[in-house]
Amino acid sequence: MELKQYVVAGISSDIGRIIAQELSSDPLVQIVGTMRRAHSDDTDVFGNNVEIVDRCDLTTELGCSRLASLVDDRFDRPFGYIHSIGEFWEHVPFLSVSPQQARTMLESHVATLQSALYALIPLMRARGGASCIAFSCNSVRYNYPWMASFTTSKAAIESLIRSLANEFAGDGLRFNSLTLASVKTDKVHASKPHGDFEHYIEPKELVPIVRFLMSEEAHLINGNAISLFEHSPRYYREGYFERISK
Ligand SMILES: NC(=O)c1ccc[n+]([C@@H]2O[C@H](COP(=O)([O-])OP(=O)(O)OC[C@H]3O[C@@H](n4cnc5c(N)ncnc54)[C@H](OP(=O)(O)O)[C@@H]3O)[C@@H](O)[C@H]2O)c1
Repeated sequence: MELKQYVVAGISSDIGRIIAQELSSDPLVQIVGTMRRAHSDDTDVFGNNVEIVDRCDLTTELGCSRLASLVDDRFDRPFGYIHSIGEFWEHVPFLSVSPQQARTMLESHVATLQSALYALIPLMRARGGASCIAFSCNSVRYNYPWMASFTTSKAAIESLIRSLANEFAGDGLRFNSLTLASVKTDKVHASKPHGDFEHYIEPKELVPIVRFLMSEEAHLINGNAISLFEHSPRYYREGYFERISK
């Protein structure tokens, strides 16, 4: 049995949008999504089982409390939480990223997750359970150059997810991160024109994995960083800087 009520934080992201569209194709599913920007005709691509909290910056208390109050009003059972948020990363040497830019990166990835979960965990407990997913990156394992502040943010996410999994397992709350290789989104396409697109992950391929983690069958899967990648023959033959060059 799959969960039927979901929060998709960052429903305006390339990955979050596809996941929300696919999950909401089941009319029994109810989704509350967040976006930082204003909801407009461009972003109005969802059915009426998706409600959006727009202009919602999850680094702020106001953003998190608006999200929590809609969830409290709409959800009446264990629910899923999908965190698809964080500033996009272009490969940049460490000395070209100011400490302020690095702080903004950390806040957009980590503080948003921490603050949203701070607001929602009491509701998850009250509804009797939850399954939460955040997205990390395989750069945490491979320590790629020119990705330091993004990778640091993702390492913090993996660590937060593992800690919460241990702290709240007794309440029926599960937390896992999906550690992604490059996903075939428009922004990734523009930022890595020499990337091996044929072997990048399609956003839609993430959907069955998310569905599984949201199901009762996955009740033993808790506190993991689950690595997802498609084998790329070019990846193993070309140098790192050739692959990311413009
Ligand atoms: N694409 C990849 O290849 C890849 C690889 C590894 C990991 N990931 C991770 O997967 C997730 C989704 O990736 P994506 O490529 O789909 O992302 P994306 O299209 O770049 O979208 C990023 C999202 O973050 C939101 N956001 C940023 N700061 C925010 C804040 N302070 N409060 C609320 N929302 C905020 C943006 O909201 P607005 O648009 O409304 O401003 C947008 O929805 C991210 O965590 C990303 O790091 C992606």
